[in-house]
Amino acid sequence: MILLLFGPPGCGKGTQAAFLAEHFHIPAISTGEVFRAECKAGTPLGKMACQIMAKGGLVGDDIVNGVVANRLTRPDCAGGFVFDGFPRTLPQAEQLDKILEARGFGKPQVVDFCVSPEELVKRISGRWMCSVGGEIYNIHEAPPKVAGICDRDGGKLVQRADDRPEAVKERLVVYERQTKPLTEYYRRRGVLDLLDAGAPVEEVSRALEKLVKCS
Ligand code: AP5
Repeated sequence: MILLLFGPPGCGKGTQAAFLAEHFHIPAISTGEVFRAECKAGTPLGKMACQIMAKGGLVGDDIVNGVVANRLTRPDCAGGFVFDGFPRTLPQAEQLDKILEARGFGKPQVVDFCVSPEELVKRISGRWMCSVGGEIYNIHEAPPKVAGICDRDGGKLVQRADDRPEAVKERLVVYERQTKPLTEYYRRRGVLDLLDAGAPVEEVSRALEKLVKCS
């Protein structure tokens, strides 16, 4: 099972990747999460990625492809995996195809999350993340039991640097320009499914589970 969750910032990819990982016992790989962790650790890669992410741009293809190729060598990927936020450009999609072919994996299933622009803004502006474990909350839809504190590990909840309005605007522009065209790439390969992701979380999870099982 190789799943690629595709869609604009804030559409719910991370939330549903966590659901799929738990449900199907496969690792969820978020390239955004990898770069945020590097950022937090203050590594040279993190320092470089931090600056790009805070402005809403994309980390360079060579760097992203290297990170992904390395991650896919880990044994937990042998039975499949779900990507959240990768690929985001044509060179990334082509590189992934090469890796899948070289390692004898089948074709991926690509799920395109469809959400209205108004709902995206609402979701992003309400998002808070645990500074320890990365658990995602939303003050409108899925608030923590105690304001500002993670239910799971008691970590402090913080907002992402790239959730500032100017960065969000740029992320949406970058998505339309560089990432959205990939839907055509996958449609032509017959592996693209559209998902109405504007519904509440549990409803989207049910629809996604059905879509994945039916393919
Ligand atoms: P990344 O972390 O991948 O960010 P993104 O794609 O912009 O997506 P988000 O994480 O903002 O949203 P999401 O779709 O995961 O939604 P979520 O589940 O959190 O990337 C960040 C940056 O890293 C990029 O901008 C780039 O700089 C760099 N990067 C990463 N990958 C890269 C790559 N491949 N190439 C180059 N650069 C790369 O949900 C959002 C909120 O809504 C949450 O609060 C959640 O609780 C809530 N919510 C979720 N579902 C629902 C629902 N159904 N109803 C109501 N609320 C919901």
